[in-house]
Amino acid sequence: MSHFQYQNGALHAERVSLSAIAAQFGSPTYVYSKAALLENFGAYADACQGRDALVCYAMKANSNLAILDLLARAGAGFDIVSGGELLRVIAAGGDPGKTIFSGVGKTVEEMRLALEKNILCFNVESIPELHRLNEVAGSMGRRAPVSLRVNPNVDAKTHPYIATGLKANKFGVAFDDALQTYRSAAALPHLDVVGIDCHIGSQLLDDAPLLEALDKLIELIDTLADEGIHLHHLDIGGGLGVNYGAEGDQPPVPVGDYLGRLFARIDAWRAGRHGGQPIKVIFEPGRSIVADTGVLLTRIEFLKPGVEKNFAIVDAAMNDLMRPTLYQAWMGVQPVVPREGDKLTYDVVGPVCESGDWLARERDLAVAPGDLLAIMTAGAYGMTMASNYNTRGRAAEVMVDGDRVQLIRQREHPADLFALESMLE
Ligand code: LLP
Repeated sequence: MSHFQYQNGALHAERVSLSAIAAQFGSPTYVYSKAALLENFGAYADACQGRDALVCYAMKANSNLAILDLLARAGAGFDIVSGGELLRVIAAGGDPGKTIFSGVGKTVEEMRLALEKNILCFNVESIPELHRLNEVAGSMGRRAPVSLRVNPNVDAKTHPYIATGLKANKFGVAFDDALQTYRSAAALPHLDVVGIDCHIGSQLLDDAPLLEALDKLIELIDTLADEGIHLHHLDIGGGLGVNYGAEGDQPPVPVGDYLGRLFARIDAWRAGRHGGQPIKVIFEPGRSIVADTGVLLTRIEFLKPGVEKNFAIVDAAMNDLMRPTLYQAWMGVQPVVPREGDKLTYDVVGPVCESGDWLARERDLAVAPGDLLAIMTAGAYGMTMASNYNTRGRAAEVMVDGDRVQLIRQREHPADLFALESMLE
């Protein structure tokens, strides 16, 4: 059940009305539900119960410290893609020992920091990166734990910007080159080859491509074992989609079903191997943990009838929520206090000076200036992708827990935005 429901004529987050939140904190504001967050993580944790498995939350989806803190306490590890994200893990009390470092362009400084903090593993994406990591680890008198991100060349059937597992993508080591790359890695003196990983794309509604990728990883793990390279973990990445609610959309496969099928295959494979030793399984979910835990609360400034279209001009914009303009993503729009009366078809747009500044198109709404709207399912890749374009301070973020609301990020003020700048002397 969604934790964003109408009660007494107003949309609520848990037991707090979004109108009350707007009155107290202003708009635009990201509003999250703590119960939804713990429920989503719980679905992964329950499916992993009793197994050697680790859920490394891909914090690029939403890296607010309050969210990281709650997930860390619930037992999550983290998937990071920068030194900055590692510092967030530490600031939130997360365990670097349960943190994996993904990404194609890790700098020397980032590698050093991650080694100093004793992260669980580096997900390495190329041969030059292997060499750099080997050198950095050697210079510190250390050995770096590595997994190779293999590109299984599986079609994830998702938006091209968020598909990552095809040959044409910049990510990972090509499947056909993987064996050779593992041999090179195993020969480097300051690396410990411990795992294999992949991530084929995001917003996958069906788990078939994920299971296909799993089969390819399994094949490779067996080949490597025959060569004497024994891996301790298998990381299948993230990617499970969510229901954004557009009409006719296919609902995503439930987390428990996907993990059930995945573990069944892994169990059957391990049982078929001599000795059948267990292998640790790692997941890197982002969106499926946070997307439906958040909404973006925004107020209508003006209604502007156009020649061809009607516009609802709101106080949130593409800088607050990039997904619609960047991916033509459909996000739900709900009036916080629905009104009676005839609906008109509106494009919901922001004040930024770009035609691409839209949040939703062609929505039937009965609304008036001053009304609040909630952009639904905005907890993932909303705030983390926000910018300061047009010198707009980023939105406030609040978290609701039952009937309590807490500010978890202050609204930015314009003076904050140019505080690091200086004029010529
Ligand atoms: N692991 C790796 C290596 C990744 O690159 C990603 C996401 C994830 C895990 C988490 O994937 P998820 O479970 O969230 O699908 N900004 C886009 C999504 C970009 C995803 C990038 N990588 C959007 O708003 O749709």
